[in-house]
Amino acid sequence: MILFENISKSFFDGKKQVQAVDDFNLRIRPGEFVCIVGASGCGKSTLLNMVAGFNKPSSGQILLNGEPVTGIDPRCGMIFQSYALFPWKTVLGNVEFGLKMQGIPRQQRQEIAGKYIDMVGLTSFADSYPCELSGGMRQRVTIARALANNPEILLMDEPFAALDAMTRQVLQEELLRIVDESNKTTLFITHSIDEAILLADRIVIMSARPGRVKDDLRINLPRPRHVTDQLATEYLDLKASIWSSVEEEVRQNMLFNA
Ligand SMILES: Nc1ncnc2c1ncn2[C@@H]1O[C@H](COP(=O)(O)OP(=O)(O)O)[C@@H](O)[C@H]1O
Ligand SMILES: [Mg+2]
Repeated sequence: MILFENISKSFFDGKKQVQAVDDFNLRIRPGEFVCIVGASGCGKSTLLNMVAGFNKPSSGQILLNGEPVTGIDPRCGMIFQSYALFPWKTVLGNVEFGLKMQGIPRQQRQEIAGKYIDMVGLTSFADSYPCELSGGMRQRVTIARALANNPEILLMDEPFAALDAMTRQVLQEELLRIVDESNKTTLFITHSIDEAILLADRIVIMSARPGRVKDDLRINLPRPRHVTDQLATEYLDLKASIWSSVEEEVRQNMLFNA
């Protein structure tokens, strides 16, 4: 489904060349939920942006269902940390926007948008404006908007990072349910090992910059999962082993950037 083949990416920052990602290889199967964790600056967002077609690898290629990504790709739905909503449109207006652009007739697009607004628990806020919503509610709107476009692939770049801990837990529970229902291939970036274990079928740990695959772990905890599973021994053992792998990279990153 998503194939990264020998991906390298460097940037010129005005003074010098920065190698963000170097020889990154990964194969993600249809329906898999993969979390990427790694030190800040190791190239996680760069990778996601290349899948979406926002920027191009310096070398190597990314294939979606066997076809190379050549530009901004409609097969991908992207959800960022900041809630990029249109402030002058209602929740419904925001969620149906992509469908409107595709020329889907009004009644049909309102039905589709309504279904996803219900799914993220915002039924009674369909006519509200973003400024009337809390941060958590706005992020739910962006999730509904991405799902309404029915992308084959969901790309999420630290979507819950700006939320308070309790709102985050509620949205994690909702995302677990939504992903179980829709069975979408998902690539999810997070700083949180807890979040990664809770959500993922697989966790990919990246090395410090330049980013490569350091570890690739299958998470076999049973589903449906819940935030409270984080207290189970199995869970804590996983957390300890992932942290020891990530810690090395974070320390190296701190030295490198000192
Ligand atoms: N557009 C850009 N121009 C120059 N450097 C960039 C650009 N985008 C990312 N970088 C650099 O590439 C590296 C990886 O960045 P990024 O993918 O955002 O890391 P992460 O998401 O893992 O924190 C960083 O050193 C960052 O400064
Ligand atoms: Mg990032």
